[in-house]
Amino acid sequence: MSADINSQLEPTGPGSPRARARRPEPWWSDAVFYQVYPRSFADSDGDGVGDLGGLATRLDHLAYLGVDGIWINPVTVSPMADHGYDVADPRDIDPLFGGMAAFEQLLAAAHQRGIKVTIDVVPNHTSSQHPWFQAALVARPGSEERDRYFFRDGRGPDGALPPNNWESVFGGPAWTRVVEPDGNPGQWYLHLFDAEQPDLNWDNPDVFDDFEKTLRFWLERGVDGFRIDVAHGMAKPPGLPDAADEAKILRHTDDDPRFNRPQVHEIHRDIRAVIDDYPGAVTVGEVWVNDNARWAEYVRPDELHLGFNFRLTRTEFDAAAIHDAVQNSLDAAALEDATPTWTLANHDVGREVTRYGGGAVGLRRARAMAMVMLALPGAVFVYNGQELGLPDVDLPDEVLQDPTWERSGHTERGRDGCRVPMPWSGDAPPFGFSTCADTWLPMPPEWAELTVEQQRAEPNSMLVFFREALHLRSSRSEFDGTQIEWLSAPGDALMFRRGGGLACVLNAGTNPIALPPGQLLMASAALVDGQLPPASAAWLV
Ligand code: NOJ
Ligand code: MG
Repeated sequence: MSADINSQLEPTGPGSPRARARRPEPWWSDAVFYQVYPRSFADSDGDGVGDLGGLATRLDHLAYLGVDGIWINPVTVSPMADHGYDVADPRDIDPLFGGMAAFEQLLAAAHQRGIKVTIDVVPNHTSSQHPWFQAALVARPGSEERDRYFFRDGRGPDGALPPNNWESVFGGPAWTRVVEPDGNPGQWYLHLFDAEQPDLNWDNPDVFDDFEKTLRFWLERGVDGFRIDVAHGMAKPPGLPDAADEAKILRHTDDDPRFNRPQVHEIHRDIRAVIDDYPGAVTVGEVWVNDNARWAEYVRPDELHLGFNFRLTRTEFDAAAIHDAVQNSLDAAALEDATPTWTLANHDVGREVTRYGGGAVGLRRARAMAMVMLALPGAVFVYNGQELGLPDVDLPDEVLQDPTWERSGHTERGRDGCRVPMPWSGDAPPFGFSTCADTWLPMPPEWAELTVEQQRAEPNSMLVFFREALHLRSSRSEFDGTQIEWLSAPGDALMFRRGGGLACVLNAGTNPIALPPGQLLMASAALVDGQLPPASAAWLV
């Protein structure tokens, strides 16, 4: 292997000189990605909204934790109707986040520390403020401008009914009627998400051409890869047929005509051909597909490198259910010999501390599940604040910002509760997140206990625990191997061994259990008479 190729493959992250140097796998194959929700990470300019300058000043935290890379949610130019997932210019950084200069500084600073930088791209839709959509609004029905989106005549005598029965993922119809340049009500346009997020028509060649420009723009500037938003969404079925079933807000099934159409794979192949010009760059797709065979199609060798598998975010703290979710995710990736991915929380699905029951119990379970996740082979995604054990926050109605709240007619509160800014230091909001007390979402006073500052000083804290787990994972050869072997365990526990020799035990039951033979490397809670207590996990070698 030439020195050149070696330098592309070797991790530069603070983790891991270990086994990876011996193995030819790409850097991301066992990377820990840290997801930064930029509005909520750190604010450098005192406007109460996190930004890239803030992130750059907090890179020490990521180096302290020992992550290999970051994934930053969208920071491109946006009116922020869906906090950046409504992109008005995909090749520039929004001033709210500090503009292009802040991005370039961040990228250099992260790379200097050996932290890879991946960014969100949003191919399924644009902002309604995107110049293409603005041009489509003033163009005629049937024009080239309208063909980049889905403009259709309405149904009913006056075209006053939407073209089909599709619903927006955020609630309400997936169609909005426009006023034509002559002042009359006219065609409708499709938006699977907010009305400010019109869907692009990927059958129009301009759409891929422009997306390719965007990919190359960021890759040329040195980004290490992309998280691809709604990666199972871009292709729409010919004729846009009605859906058979009523859709649930923020969820859909595999049969839903809005998503997971076979033609989407052609798009992924075209994307991959571009990415392959930049060795080492990674793509991870948001793939909400449940069926393993259909999910695996996205990670074929000429499509995405990685696909999010969300099973664990939908799994209770129950040994049998966790076993099945893990095995299913491994099986799905194995169908294409792809790398599995593990996620317990993100900015859409909520935080696991709350999902596991909240309070001390939820935190204890979250600690245990962190050890399960970090013991598994593949790439891991940690959502900012997960390392602090943050819970979801019950926010008052009047501060809610997720478009879901309005679009659902105030029946679904949406995702703001898991997007509250990070508490860094001090004993009162805004906890060093900002100099402005009026943070974009209010921070709970009780987070005084959960600040980074507090937790760094507390040897038993979630943060110190996370750091230790990440360091063990990246430095010990016992974590080698791409397979796991399930070992027999009591009914409410699970136990598996990695190829490198690590044994991971999870006690999801209510009684302490005996540990298998071996040296204890780490436990999520103190052992009781040499046994693993309920709601905890251990690593042995
Ligand atoms: C998935 C993103 O993760 C979510 O936050 C966003 O609202 C939708 N895609 C629409 O872009
Ligand atoms: Mg700011």
